[in-house]
Amino acid sequence: MSGYTPALMELIKKVEATRPARVEKARKGEHFPALTMEQRQEWLRQYHPDYKNDGRRAVEVGVNKGTVYPEEVSTLLESKSRLNTKCVDLSKADYETDLLVIGAGGAGTAAALAAQEQGLKVLISTKLRHGDSNTVMAEGGIQGADQEGDSPYFHYLDVIGGGHFSNQPGLVAALTNDAPLIIHWLESLGMMFDKKPDGRMLVRHGGGTSRKRMHSAGDMTGAEIMRVVRDEARNRANDIKVLEFTPAVELILDEKGSCAGAVLYNLETKEYYVVKAKSVLIATGGFGRLHIQGFPTTNHYGATADGVVMAYRAGVSLQDLDSTQYHPTGAIYPEQNVGLLITEKVRGLGAQLLNTEGEQFCFPLEPRDVESACVIRECMDIGKGILTPTGRHGVWLDSPMIDMIHGEGTVRKELPAKYIQFKRYDIDISKVPMLIYPTLHYQNGGILINEWSETTVKGLYSAGEVAGGVHGRNRLMGNSLLDVLVFGRRAGLKAAEYVKTAKLGSKLSLSHVEKFNKEIDKAGIDNGIESPLLLPDYAPEHVKARQIS
Ligand code: FUM
Repeated sequence: MSGYTPALMELIKKVEATRPARVEKARKGEHFPALTMEQRQEWLRQYHPDYKNDGRRAVEVGVNKGTVYPEEVSTLLESKSRLNTKCVDLSKADYETDLLVIGAGGAGTAAALAAQEQGLKVLISTKLRHGDSNTVMAEGGIQGADQEGDSPYFHYLDVIGGGHFSNQPGLVAALTNDAPLIIHWLESLGMMFDKKPDGRMLVRHGGGTSRKRMHSAGDMTGAEIMRVVRDEARNRANDIKVLEFTPAVELILDEKGSCAGAVLYNLETKEYYVVKAKSVLIATGGFGRLHIQGFPTTNHYGATADGVVMAYRAGVSLQDLDSTQYHPTGAIYPEQNVGLLITEKVRGLGAQLLNTEGEQFCFPLEPRDVESACVIRECMDIGKGILTPTGRHGVWLDSPMIDMIHGEGTVRKELPAKYIQFKRYDIDISKVPMLIYPTLHYQNGGILINEWSETTVKGLYSAGEVAGGVHGRNRLMGNSLLDVLVFGRRAGLKAAEYVKTAKLGSKLSLSHVEKFNKEIDKAGIDNGIESPLLLPDYAPEHVKARQIS
């Protein structure tokens, strides 16, 4: 029995017909030729969603006024605060702390640990539970040049090349130089990395890497990272307090314009809390749940760009926020799996992308944006995509090749989560291929930071997916899990330094929010949206119509 329809099973026969010859070539190390640099640029220009002019427009307010972003982002940046600032009493704080960390994924937790080690009291506020984040959902791995024949220098070149030379070099240097230290730190916290029988790290290629430096924990690398860092933070509960289901809704500044805290909102009791903090870190993750250009997403439920919105109102500049990463292999069948990540590790293990004729049409490990453009081209232009029963287009990802190349049982051993995810629908991915299409995966840009995670507002730091500049206009696999830990840790260290020396203001203020609201009125904008969004709204209109108020 198979979860595929008879029509799709019929098409799979074409994949099976070409498989023995493809496996034979793969065993000999022969692969489909990669695109030339010129072809890459051409494919991106023609097929990548970021390069389409429709669905994008200039934002009309704020420090980046005039910059073109996806429509969804510009609209959100032009929305008013959900907070009635007049009703917030800033004269007394509900909480006081050295460092307020907004967001409890990998970046926020790493920052809390680093700051606590420097003697700071830390308060973490998060809108869901500690660990609910894109970090915990990350699958394939974390890069770090800690193996013989590799070095941060090669890693640096790969990151810059993958980002099409649009990255901030200082940020890339920080990322790649700190990577070996971060891998070592994770292991010291008890992370169970995939290892060879002799105990050495098992490392693999990701798209766009010149050396094998992808460290993994099966296809649940993010969950394993989050397990160890969260446990460590919870073990330091005397100094690191966590408020769950309590997102930040606005930053608070002092009379000198430095960041001095935030207003939090308790999702359960609907109370607002004032937090007075000597320093603040925004680590709220990305914007996947904005579903840019109508794409499904790999992202967790809370990925609604809250940090970017709050920082923008406080006058913080943004960088490369017009650049979105569409992961080449999102599931498009069965319907219940649509948009979910099929880790790049599947291609790293040798699985190939195939069209409806069972033919390869691209090198499987091009940089992600290029690989996505190749899939879109094959479906939309060449017309060799596969149509699903619900009207979606996609191509095959030939996972059964993995067992044929590496030995029976490899799929189940290396990709346990993926195996279960499909087996639930009677699809055994070690026997039949998966159907995939690009899915919105990552916010490439974000809040402008320097290599110590400092923003343009004093006392305000930002780290992880919410921040921009590290990856330029395209991130390579495994550099996001690295980014959250490198820049989270750096933010914690820098905040500790700042707190010990800075002269902090005493008067708390939300006047920047009022000023921003006025700017929106002056521009004649009334889009009816209140933000931060906090959670995406998927209720259909006919359901909303049942509500009285
Ligand atoms: O394909 C993946 O496993 C995704 C990893 C990443 O975005 O770094």
